[in-house]
Amino acid sequence: MDMQVNFGGLSLKNPVMTASGTFGFGLEFAPYGDLTRLGGIVAKGLSLKPREGNPMPRIAETPCGMLNAIGIQNPGVEHFVTKALPMLPWKDVAVIANLYACDATEFGELAGVLAGEEGVAALEVNVSCPNVKEGGIAFGQDPVQIGRVTEAVKKKAGDKHVMVKLSPNVTDIAVCARAAAEGGADSLSLINTLSGMAVDIRNRKPRIANVIAGLSGPAIKPVALRCVHQVVHAVDIPVVGIGGIASAEDALEFILVGAQAVQVGTANFLRPDFAFGLADEMESLLSELGAASLDEFRGSLQLPI
Ligand SMILES: Cc1cc2nc3c(=O)[nH]c(=O)nc-3n(C[C@H](O)[C@H](O)[C@H](O)COP(=O)(O)O)c2cc1C
Repeated sequence: MDMQVNFGGLSLKNPVMTASGTFGFGLEFAPYGDLTRLGGIVAKGLSLKPREGNPMPRIAETPCGMLNAIGIQNPGVEHFVTKALPMLPWKDVAVIANLYACDATEFGELAGVLAGEEGVAALEVNVSCPNVKEGGIAFGQDPVQIGRVTEAVKKKAGDKHVMVKLSPNVTDIAVCARAAAEGGADSLSLINTLSGMAVDIRNRKPRIANVIAGLSGPAIKPVALRCVHQVVHAVDIPVVGIGGIASAEDALEFILVGAQAVQVGTANFLRPDFAFGLADEMESLLSELGAASLDEFRGSLQLPI
């Protein structure tokens, strides 16, 4: 079965990507499988300057998922371009850079640095920085800012595919999706983590130093499916599904709802080899289900009339 996917000029040999922040720059996972079996590698979030991230503890386990408040710890975009990217098999697997900045200008600058990099297949824009200038609201919660950031990235991205990653922590994700599409996004990926917290009744302290953190893993899959369902009906651009994928069945649920492709996040921590075999598992399951192809299955969810 043909598992290739092509959308918005981005070509992937299969619909499985690894989600940003859960797969390092990719090389860390090379001992667990052949990176070129993946459709794409979304690298950990990059900022213009290196970032130390948030204080520890910044990870807590929850039933069916985890909370994290890493704070986009990363060595900066120059390090990625000069040290990590040349080591990745980017000719055989799409490498997608995930961008993090705190204003539209800085996002544009980051895109400009990556625009000329042959090894980068696409830019994924993470719009979850709290924008202090605008009063502390996260970009991802403000459709006007999402539009502005998308336009700024598009302007500097050259011919790179621009994927905007949406937050579920909003009243209406379809409004945010439309803002990104109108700003010129080539595709959307969703969802990022859900806002959450955990506390310890013994020492009466938050379990995460930052107090509020991002929830990911199987617990968020129903929310992610709902968001993808709403967004595929709200915009004409392709959508990539993310959230709690831990099996081929989970991945195909997102495809059924209309996603072009998927990203695997938290599951990489539990089973570092999981993402490598997922496309094959999806292919077998599609055959078992009697689907003629991935394209035929995509978006074929039968809704009540
Ligand atoms: C430890 C950790 C770090 C993450 N770092 C990033 C990041 O740098 N940029 C980003 O856009 N998303 C980041 N995410 C969000 C994931 O890419 C993904 O959207 C989310 O975890 C939901 O997918 P999952 O349930 O499969 O983990 C991070 C998630 C985790 C668990």
